[in-house]
Amino acid sequence: MTVPRTAVAPWAAPEIAPATDVERAAQEWIAPYDQAWHLLRTRDWVVYLRPDAPMELRLAALVHDIERMFPGGPRLDLDTQAWDDPWYLFAHSTRSAEFVDGWLRERSDVTPEQRHEVCRLVALHEVGGLRGGDDLQAADSLSFLETLADPSVWIVSGAASADRAESKFRYSADRIRVPAAHEPAARLLAAALNGLPKKERT
Ligand SMILES: [Fe+2]
Repeated sequence: MTVPRTAVAPWAAPEIAPATDVERAAQEWIAPYDQAWHLLRTRDWVVYLRPDAPMELRLAALVHDIERMFPGGPRLDLDTQAWDDPWYLFAHSTRSAEFVDGWLRERSDVTPEQRHEVCRLVALHEVGGLRGGDDLQAADSLSFLETLADPSVWIVSGAASADRAESKFRYSADRIRVPAAHEPAARLLAAALNGLPKKERT
């Protein structure tokens, strides 16, 4: 099932079109993934934060979670594990990078250096890093808060308790290091928290 698109607020990153053939192809590759909207918005947010974002950073944003489209990946216990559990985060990030590496190897318009750079960024997307790593992590957080911090998904579906959902939403905002992302993150976080059951928010 495809997760429904969320409305884009007037102050949020505008929706943008792919800038290259490989970016267009990436959008087709991720289309069957049920969180493709989150990936598209991560690309939009990374360009919002870095209008000069290179092709590799835009592409990494578009595919950063793609391992979840393929069965057999690592699992995080939503009730008990820390949101920054490194064993889960590194397994998830590097598995995504491996799928991206395989997909990019088939393309003649991507050099080995470009492929390595996309995979480096994908592998760093949860923890951030230099040369675009922090930008991608911030864009992922903004897009998560915009497209996936949905109480109907986290609580009504029984995926997690309200307290756990709140801690996940706050973690996504708190991990951001890019100054330009702090204000939109605060707005998105406030909206997400506002959707949680009130009695849990004391
Ligand atoms: Fe993500």
